[in-house]
Amino acid sequence: MPDTTPRGLTRLAFGGDYNPEQWPEDVWREDVRLMREAGVSMVSVGIFSWALLEPAPGEYDFGWLDRVLDLLHEGGVRVDLGTPTVVPPVWFYRAHPEALPVREDGTRYEFGSRGAICHSNADYRAAAANITTRLAERYGDHPALAMWHVHNEYGVPVSACYCDSCAAHFRRWLATAYGTVDAVNEAWGTAFWGQRYTDLEQINPPRVTPTVGNPGQALDYRRFADATARENFRMERDILHRLSPGVPVTTNFMTALSQCDSLDYWAWGREVDLVTNDHYLITDGRRTHVNLAMAADLTRSVAGGAPWLLLEHSPSGVNWQPRNPAKAPGQMARNSLAHVARGSEGAMFFQWRQSRRGAEKFHSAMVPHGGTGTRVWREVVELGGSLDALNEIRGTRTVADVAVLWDWQSWWAQNLDWRPSEDHNARERADAFYEALYDRHLTVDFVHPEADLSACPLVVVPALYLMTEAAGRNVTRYVENGGTLVVSYFSGIVDEHDAVHDGAYPGPLRDALGLTVEEFSPLLQGERVRVTGPGGAEFDADVWTEFVVPHGAETVWTYADGLTAGRPAVTRHRLGEGTAWYVSTRLGQAGLDALLGRAAEDAGIAPRDGLPRDVEVVRRTGESGTFLFAINHTATDAKVPLEAPGTELLTGERAAGRLALPAGAVRVVRLDG
Ligand code: GAL
Repeated sequence: MPDTTPRGLTRLAFGGDYNPEQWPEDVWREDVRLMREAGVSMVSVGIFSWALLEPAPGEYDFGWLDRVLDLLHEGGVRVDLGTPTVVPPVWFYRAHPEALPVREDGTRYEFGSRGAICHSNADYRAAAANITTRLAERYGDHPALAMWHVHNEYGVPVSACYCDSCAAHFRRWLATAYGTVDAVNEAWGTAFWGQRYTDLEQINPPRVTPTVGNPGQALDYRRFADATARENFRMERDILHRLSPGVPVTTNFMTALSQCDSLDYWAWGREVDLVTNDHYLITDGRRTHVNLAMAADLTRSVAGGAPWLLLEHSPSGVNWQPRNPAKAPGQMARNSLAHVARGSEGAMFFQWRQSRRGAEKFHSAMVPHGGTGTRVWREVVELGGSLDALNEIRGTRTVADVAVLWDWQSWWAQNLDWRPSEDHNARERADAFYEALYDRHLTVDFVHPEADLSACPLVVVPALYLMTEAAGRNVTRYVENGGTLVVSYFSGIVDEHDAVHDGAYPGPLRDALGLTVEEFSPLLQGERVRVTGPGGAEFDADVWTEFVVPHGAETVWTYADGLTAGRPAVTRHRLGEGTAWYVSTRLGQAGLDALLGRAAEDAGIAPRDGLPRDVEVVRRTGESGTFLFAINHTATDAKVPLEAPGTELLTGERAAGRLALPAGAVRVVRLDG
């Protein structure tokens, strides 16, 4: 059984991607000295070094990596060793040009960037297996080795290849998934627009077509591309397990970045020994710490609640957005410790030393271009100290309050073309509901729609367009047995083939919600409606309205204007022991907050009074105790009520009653008892 914790790592992980191949050897000694100064406990090495390790086919140069690993080991720094299979050397591509992936329009990518891989290509698979085997044979029991880091961020920047090898591979995948061409015809509804196939051999990837292609085919191609990348991960992982037994194998995910939606991380989470994630702040004007919290909660959920590890985030600015602000003083620590609060066993960065050359030279690093006389370096050293002070939290688990149903496959389906409104965006609704829960200071577990929900007092379904019959039964049973459910519009519409469920909308949710939806009525751009409720409540909504027909549900809020004026906007249905809410329009944050307040009441969740907005409070608990993390994202000092007295680990001070939380600060209290 491979271990799930980095071998020999006795502290929280702190460090980053270390690319010594970009520097002369005399810098390496200085690196290790500085790592010790900052309290670095682990670095990720070798992720992009295939061209150096195998300069010509079958010719290897491991000498430099031997010296790097030995130096790190002498310095007490553990190693997360990369298999460099995300960038094969140029000689490989010149010998096998068809290993470069092809876009939908037939353009083949060129060598010269990274991640240009056709995962169906047999030569790529053989070469990747070979270099992985060589590395495992050489370093499988190296004393510095803590874990294996396979590839880098599968799914980006190329999420799918459309070449002829992939076409053949796709047909094999379809044969396994469906058996016969008739079954494919049925699933994809090829009777529409005369798309019927008579032989699996006739089927190609969904390449460029004159207008919208077959949605079932497009959805299956996303599944195929995801499964194909996973096959290659498994191939490398199995080699490492065989040759380097007991050492955990991971690959770094990007769970919550909407630009990286091509992997079904529920499936990937089951394949890795330890879930690791990369997270970068998207500075689009929204509160970045909310997206960060969502990423961390999603990653922990993919890990089944078990400890996971933040493998990359940025010390300060990135360099791949249109505008890349530096992090504010203290923000690096708040970001890092927010991930830790939500289950990460440390905080790692991209990257250790800022590159002087190449595409990412303006991306911040732990050792900036300006060296150690910089604010970033001082904050890095300080963060190393903070993580040391938190060592005893290792192995504890984050406590969640509510569940949000989440499914990548539903998201893929929802993003296909020709929907009732392009303004409805499933991810936007997921973010908005998450933000409303965050603002109520509730910690979220994400849950697959078919997973056991019985332990969750409140389950929120922000946008689950694709829902299987099994998921519908699961959710209905949950309500009958006393759960509280909140469902947002355009959920439960299609099955796993993007075919609309039989009968009225919302197919498998009708019984739980006690209603049907006769018709969608999306709004024009900029158009708004008001919804009104008891006690003069009035909220703004936009994007979407519906003609809802209650069958047992009571109307709580009503449309005040628009085509649906006078009809139900928000409903509540008592079923068995539980309650199911439905919201048929896009409520703004005030409306969402009011709705979730009512639902939380039904679920018996007490309001978290006394906590200001943007003061984040999260608990981890386990054998070593219960730890309350308090993070102040505001510029104002705050007080956080403590349920028990305790010891604050970063200052060493005793705390009781109301914990003083200075502006921008983080505090972690081990509660007594
Ligand atoms: C990550 C990637 C790193 C580096 C980083 C910063 O997505 O894994 O190699 O590129 O972004 O841009």
